[in-house]
Amino acid sequence: MAMKRALKAVINRASPRIIPRLRFLQGLLHHSPPPLKAVALYRVSRYFWVRGHRILARHYENLLYYRCGCTISCEAEIGEGVWFPHPTGIVIGKGSILGRNVTVYQSVTLGRKDRTVSDYPRIGDDVTIYPGSVVIGAIVVGKGTTIGANSVVLADTEENSVYAGVPARRLR
Ligand SMILES: CC(C)(COP(=O)(O)OP(=O)(O)OC[C@H]1O[C@@H](n2cnc3c(N)ncnc32)[C@H](O)[C@@H]1OP(=O)(O)O)[C@@H](O)C(=O)NCCC(=O)NCCS
Repeated sequence: MAMKRALKAVINRASPRIIPRLRFLQGLLHHSPPPLKAVALYRVSRYFWVRGHRILARHYENLLYYRCGCTISCEAEIGEGVWFPHPTGIVIGKGSILGRNVTVYQSVTLGRKDRTVSDYPRIGDDVTIYPGSVVIGAIVVGKGTTIGANSVVLADTEENSVYAGVPARRLR
């Protein structure tokens, strides 16, 4: 309730030019198709995070969880063009870095190898990660890599190649 009141206060103080934009944002966040909604909620939470509005950032991060069932940290750096075709069950840990035009399917996890360490993966541009895959540790997934369904990636991958399996091996 306190959050709702604070947002209302901000909106009430906003200039008439801003209000239609806020209404558009509200529509995007609540009524758009799930892939768009997931990206929009991440972007809003990230927007607040980088500007130091931590409570608002966590609010939108939590909303992304309640609406889509995804835990995408506002601390993760995700480049433009990211796409979540079926945004459910995706977990992207706080230290992860994703390049441009990355596609992440359902139930993918990008995170650290162990709770006691802080080693997150770096995903290159144009990477596709198919459903159920787990990418963990301080590894680099090379530009243009495809990761097959239900793979576990534990080491760096070469650019423009296809990896799959547990642990993932290079197919081509
Ligand atoms: C990884 C992938 C892209 C590779 O496709 P491909 O290049 O046509 O590969 P192939 O089917 O020729 O398989 C090559 C080898 O890799 C193995 N392989 C393929 N995908 C695999 C996977 N996800 N996990 C483990 N092994 C896999 C095959 O069994 C085969 O092994 P073999 O050489 O010992 O017989 C594809 O298999 C895949 O996982 N696609 C995901 C699609 C998906 O999830 N769609 C739903 C989206 S909602």
